[in-house]
Amino acid sequence: APSPLAPGLLAPGLLAPGLLVLLVFAKEDSQNNGFCWACEKANFRCNVARTPEAALECFKEKHHDLVIIDHRHSRYFDAESLCREVLLIHFYLNGFVDLFGVCCCRPDREEASVMPLIKSGFNRRYVENANMMACYNELLQLERGEVLAQFKLRACNAIFTALEQSQEAIEITNEDQVIQYVNPAYESIMGYQQGELIGKEITEVPKSEKNKPDLLETINSCIRKGKEWQGIYYAKKKNGDSVQQNVKITPVIGQGGKHKDRRKGSLDVRSTTSRGSDGSSQRRHSSMARIHSMTIEAPITKVINIINAAQESSPMPVAEALDRVLEILRTTELYSPQLGTKEEDPHTNDLVGGLMTDGLRRLSGNEYIFAPHLPSHLAMPLSLNDIPPHVAQTMENEDSWDFDIFNLETACLKRPLTYLGLKIFSRFGVCEFLSCPEATLRSWLQGIEANYHSTNSYHNSSHAADVLHATAYFLCKERVKQSLEQIDEVAALIAATVHDVDHPGRTNSFLCNAGSELAILYNDTAVLESHHAALAFQITTRDDKCNIFRNMERNEYRTLRQAIIDMVLATEMTKHFEHVNKFVNSINKPLAALEENGSVKGILTSPDNRILVKRMLIKCADISNPCRPLELCIEWAGRISEEYFAQTDEEKRQSLPVVMPVFDRNTCSIPKSQISFIDYFITDMFDAWDAFADLPNLMQHLDNNFKYWKGLDERKLHSLRPPPE
Ligand SMILES: *[C@@H]1O[C@H](CO)[C@@H](O)[C@H](O)[C@H]1NC(C)=O
Ligand SMILES: *[C@@H]1O[C@H](CO)[C@@H](O)[C@H](O)[C@H]1NC(C)=O
Ligand SMILES: *[C@@H]1O[C@H](CO)[C@@H](O)[C@H](O)[C@H]1NC(C)=O
Repeated sequence: APSPLAPGLLAPGLLAPGLLVLLVFAKEDSQNNGFCWACEKANFRCNVARTPEAALECFKEKHHDLVIIDHRHSRYFDAESLCREVLLIHFYLNGFVDLFGVCCCRPDREEASVMPLIKSGFNRRYVENANMMACYNELLQLERGEVLAQFKLRACNAIFTALEQSQEAIEITNEDQVIQYVNPAYESIMGYQQGELIGKEITEVPKSEKNKPDLLETINSCIRKGKEWQGIYYAKKKNGDSVQQNVKITPVIGQGGKHKDRRKGSLDVRSTTSRGSDGSSQRRHSSMARIHSMTIEAPITKVINIINAAQESSPMPVAEALDRVLEILRTTELYSPQLGTKEEDPHTNDLVGGLMTDGLRRLSGNEYIFAPHLPSHLAMPLSLNDIPPHVAQTMENEDSWDFDIFNLETACLKRPLTYLGLKIFSRFGVCEFLSCPEATLRSWLQGIEANYHSTNSYHNSSHAADVLHATAYFLCKERVKQSLEQIDEVAALIAATVHDVDHPGRTNSFLCNAGSELAILYNDTAVLESHHAALAFQITTRDDKCNIFRNMERNEYRTLRQAIIDMVLATEMTKHFEHVNKFVNSINKPLAALEENGSVKGILTSPDNRILVKRMLIKCADISNPCRPLELCIEWAGRISEEYFAQTDEEKRQSLPVVMPVFDRNTCSIPKSQISFIDYFITDMFDAWDAFADLPNLMQHLDNNFKYWKGLDERKLHSLRPPPE
């Protein structure tokens, strides 16, 4: 029989009042009295017998749990034969030996062998000591130790008796799926004799073909997880007949942590339970217990708890799928695809390392110094009406995707953001919404633009103007208009304008590695994006002349500010996959499910989803270069590469870690880096955005541009353009 099946039945506290002790002492002496006092103190009932005859008589009647026999004076009686007789009676009464006998011996026999005593059936020697505390301690130790074990065995016996009498067929295996026991009901239902089955692995017993092939695997994986399985199972009788049975399988986790299968009904399970998986499933349970016990519930904890609860009542395949879900949910990097080892493309790795991670390590003493860009030409008046005709001309088609921002850049002497901003903001009625004079907007745009570094080859105000252009374009798409309100549009336009203000032309990882002031200020976390958002509001509010929010109602301002900050922070690339995946799951998928119906308004306008739309919108606008017409796409690719090259140059100069080694001006393949960027960041995101906003022209350009870079790469060219013929 396996170890105690039901230790829970035997709560030790329940034992004490019931323990019954027989003392066999020929004369009342201090030792005898010591045990009497001890029994009283321990709250045990106690009988005293003076002769072997009286002892046997009393024992037959009361059936004591513990017998203490005086062995010190052989002239009164033979303790060893008395012990044997007591055991014999006990055996006849109970069918098995579980009595606990203690003999009391003189100190001078301490050196003698205990063997004769053990042979007589004593299981413990107590050396004469009449001190009451010593007697009491002995009784307590006996009760907590061996007597308790005897009780467990008795309970075990009772349980086996119940199993024998049960009408239901029961089978027990050990953790290696070797059959340990079947009950008589099992024998009569299945037609086997115990002897034919015990000691066999259950794989050796023939199985019915009527079960679904994957049923055993399902059952096994359930048991491996320590869960009960219940369901319909076809068992094969010895005579070959299949019988349909309602079966329940329960893993028994013993104190050693091993599983045992106890079966009701008759069942065969093929594979064995591996100990390794036992261990891990227990670890998982304990970590689950920790999550359950957290007092402050994060949303993810609530989700995990809901899934746990749902698992309880789910059929096995669902419960298993939910197990996998839980595994994934417990990891922290929920939205970042893991770069597998097979994805060894250095361009992708560098882009991911350079754009999606913060510092590798911080070096002290290598401060990155910002060139301070104070808004210096606020004084120069500029109005929509003052826009010179040749500049206005370059903006005529600014509502088209194919608008060429570089024409504007050339025409307006490094002020593309101010000019394009004035035009676009007036098209969207931003001044009216903000109740702000056009002059304030003008000053504001100039102040913001002045804080873009024109020395950056990519992150200068031309990029900001480009993102503003894309944002305005997306805002005009039907679906986007259905989803957003005017305050969202205004927030999006402002966020696009400020989203890279004071960008130093270096990546977050560079700033962290260099231990820049900003990285220290922002704890290496979303360093640039935090700075862009914070600085934008500083520039705006520190001077009434350019405070476009000045006339706003307080609550509306707070809402607008919140939305702007959220969008600027969303441009941080470490959260790229999180934003894209949330968008797909909360918006694309529900919309696709409702397609025929047309009742999409609820999905589009819920506050949570509006936030996701805005984030996706600014992210797509921010990195839409690969979806622009080929010539524009090539120009942007040249600029970003140059900015990264400059960073690598500086890293080398300052002995900083080189975050993106592929962007080395001597070796870099620009086509390869563009291909990787498109593959890793762009394709999925624009698929999702196109599915929402309907942007066939962008997708066409993307396709085109990708082919262009592929073509160069196939010719092993590293440059932006093919060499002249
Ligand atoms: C942005 O950088 C490019 C060089 O890559 C430069 O030609 C252009 O004038 C800059 N734009 C602004 C507004 O500073
Ligand atoms: C940076 O970390 C410190 C210490 O945890 C914290 O007090 C501070 O608020 C953090 N700063 C930012 C900008 O998160
Ligand atoms: C269409 O929408 C209505 C509610 O607007 C809903 O009751 C119905 O089930 C939907 N039909 C489909 C096919 O989704």
